[in-house]
Amino acid sequence: MKIIHSIQELRKELYMRRFDKERISFVPTMGNLHEGHISLIHKAAEKGDCVVASIFVNPLQFGANEDLESYPRTPEQDEAQLLATGCVDFLFRPRVEEIYPVGQENHTVVEVPNISDVYCGASRPGHFRGVATIVCKLLNIVQPDFAIFGRKDYQQLMVIEKMVEDLCLPVKVIGADTARAKDGLALSSRNGYLTSDERQCAPALYKALQEAKEVILSGQADFKGIQARANHALEQAGFKPDYFDICNAKTLEPALRSDQELVILAAAYLGKARLIDNIVISLT
Ligand code: PAJ
Repeated sequence: MKIIHSIQELRKELYMRRFDKERISFVPTMGNLHEGHISLIHKAAEKGDCVVASIFVNPLQFGANEDLESYPRTPEQDEAQLLATGCVDFLFRPRVEEIYPVGQENHTVVEVPNISDVYCGASRPGHFRGVATIVCKLLNIVQPDFAIFGRKDYQQLMVIEKMVEDLCLPVKVIGADTARAKDGLALSSRNGYLTSDERQCAPALYKALQEAKEVILSGQADFKGIQARANHALEQAGFKPDYFDICNAKTLEPALRSDQELVILAAAYLGKARLIDNIVISLT
């Protein structure tokens, strides 16, 4: 595994790989890696011949009052974990100035309309503009055949899929299942913000999603009522719910009774941590 900091050097290396007819798989991350990230690396290795991972804590996707400064940075452990997979060829770890040499304020941005403004986009204005911009840049730098993203960040995956389609980017976007702890909590770098008591409560988020799914599968379609009961259960468990919404899985519009593919998107604060999760429901 070669660690690369500059765009130019990475391009040179990947030019050689492409020349040798290798197919390139790419996994962008913000580091503090866990088994969820590692599962994406394995998926990348299944798809392509050459695996590129990136670690870049992207300032553009953090709001002014968010956790950019405190976001966990664990470079040595991350390197060791990627090395241990035995399947990463290049780790791209650029400095902020390499990515935003003109400064963030002065930088061209990618705006994916509508879908960026709801759910996490409503709670975190500008977040998906930052995500789309960095992912677009990274895809242009790496020019991979495959790019792997987790379904844990369901709305992010949809924003990226739309950007890739709208801008005709020549890459196949691949979604990967959510890796969870034994008690159901979706793995996340932000779980580290939880105190041990909060960590005990945290699986209630996925439980609320599973319960709502069961109710919908049993034939109930009072989505507003189901959402209200879930928010109440989360409050009882110690969360401050942000949203818990039953949506059309393709459009993310509020679900209609006639929809067959649904997703429930949820976000809730537990102490300092803002946890997000989702569950997909197929009624066909
Ligand atoms: P980060 O939170 O580090 O996540 C990197 C990738 O890992 C994303 O595709 C995310 O969906 C996936 N991931 C996170 N937790 C997961 C889990 N429990 N199971 C499966 N996959 C999981 O998401 C970002 O970084 C950034 O927004 C990024 C796309 C890198 C742009 O800066």
